[in-house]
Amino acid sequence: MFALKSSVTLSHASTTSSALRGLFEPFEVKSLSLRNRFAMAPMTRAFSPDGIPGADVAEYYRRRAAGGVGLIITEGTYIPDPAAGPHTRVPRIYGDESLDGWKSVVDAVHAEGGSIIPQLWHLGVERGDKPQLNPDVQTVSPSGLALDGTPLGREFTSADLENLKQAWVDAALNAKNTGFDGLELHGAHGYLLDEFLWAGSNVRTDSYGGSLEARTRFPAEVVAAIREAVGNEFAIVYRFSQWKSGQYDARIAQSPNELGRILAPLVDAGVDVLHPSTRRHWEPAFAELDGEDGKLGLAGWTKKLTGLPTITVGSVGLDSVFTTAFTADAASSVTGLERLESQYEDGEFDMVAVGRALLADPEWVEKLRTGRTDEHIAFTAAHRSQLN
Ligand SMILES: Cc1cc2nc3c(=O)[nH]c(=O)nc-3n(C[C@H](O)[C@H](O)[C@H](O)COP(=O)(O)O)c2cc1C
Repeated sequence: MFALKSSVTLSHASTTSSALRGLFEPFEVKSLSLRNRFAMAPMTRAFSPDGIPGADVAEYYRRRAAGGVGLIITEGTYIPDPAAGPHTRVPRIYGDESLDGWKSVVDAVHAEGGSIIPQLWHLGVERGDKPQLNPDVQTVSPSGLALDGTPLGREFTSADLENLKQAWVDAALNAKNTGFDGLELHGAHGYLLDEFLWAGSNVRTDSYGGSLEARTRFPAEVVAAIREAVGNEFAIVYRFSQWKSGQYDARIAQSPNELGRILAPLVDAGVDVLHPSTRRHWEPAFAELDGEDGKLGLAGWTKKLTGLPTITVGSVGLDSVFTTAFTADAASSVTGLERLESQYEDGEFDMVAVGRALLADPEWVEKLRTGRTDEHIAFTAAHRSQLN
């Protein structure tokens, strides 16, 4: 664990702490052969007119790959279902022009030595009732309920669910055929797959609702169908979360036992890597528990329960830890990576996803690797609509 004083030595790569050096070791999972354990977190941009990622999108991702990121997880990209999402400028992973656009993105990232997977996305009820894309198509979700419990759109019929599964499979095959190194399923934040998992949005009375196991059934069926289609070697990453958009205290699992009961069927169905999404990676997942159990984060629990490679995420590098490391504010600045380091030393995760810090600073990873952390660029609101 590096304390404030030793953080000064981070300006020399050779003296970077061993845990941080460990994050620069290669990592392999099936089709993913990563040069280091830093991932770019998926971040929606809406810079793809008509769902087609253009040259500017390729350049945006190329810069992060050139900046040393091992694995780029793209912004959420709509699967081929007309009710997947509301925006016309969010990229799609279907249709020749969109796939050609993605091919250019993949080639640009590979040319810089990076790996890249798309995040496959269906918003379910979060598509809302005023979509710009396919406005005549009704929004669909497990129970036709918005996340606040009010009625919105309609609930899936059994026939819908079969079509929907095929849409996930088609998206996965498109990803594979386009040359991506694997794929991530967006099963977090109150979007479609998460809406099945959460009792607040799934009140179905058929075999897809009710018990925890029944609520997990559709997401697990999607994983199994994708696994069958893409073969055993193509890596499947599954992102999930306790929190939902606007409902930060929501939980799909009230206890480690419940978390294990959700994750086991997903793992059995063929997930290779789990990506629990938290807003602050160091926060305990079940703080009400006693002792060490009450301190373990969601990534730590995920890894402990499943043994699968796990990605942690949430506020890494955001507290200006390195940019202010040599100023009077250093103590608070150091907190972020100190905890990341100790969690990594404790074996709580295998990879770390970095979001906003990489929006602000495409070279964030390379600067860390080469001890130029004093050059890290702080995130500002202006970076949210990052053009490059
Ligand atoms: C502008 C923006 C867009 C995002 N879009 C997505 C998305 O498409 N899919 C997703 O799973 N998470 C999305 N997120 C969440 C990030 O992946 C990440 O989990 C979050 O920003 C926390 O990481 P950070 O603190 O390092 O930024 C988004 C976050 C931001 C800031």
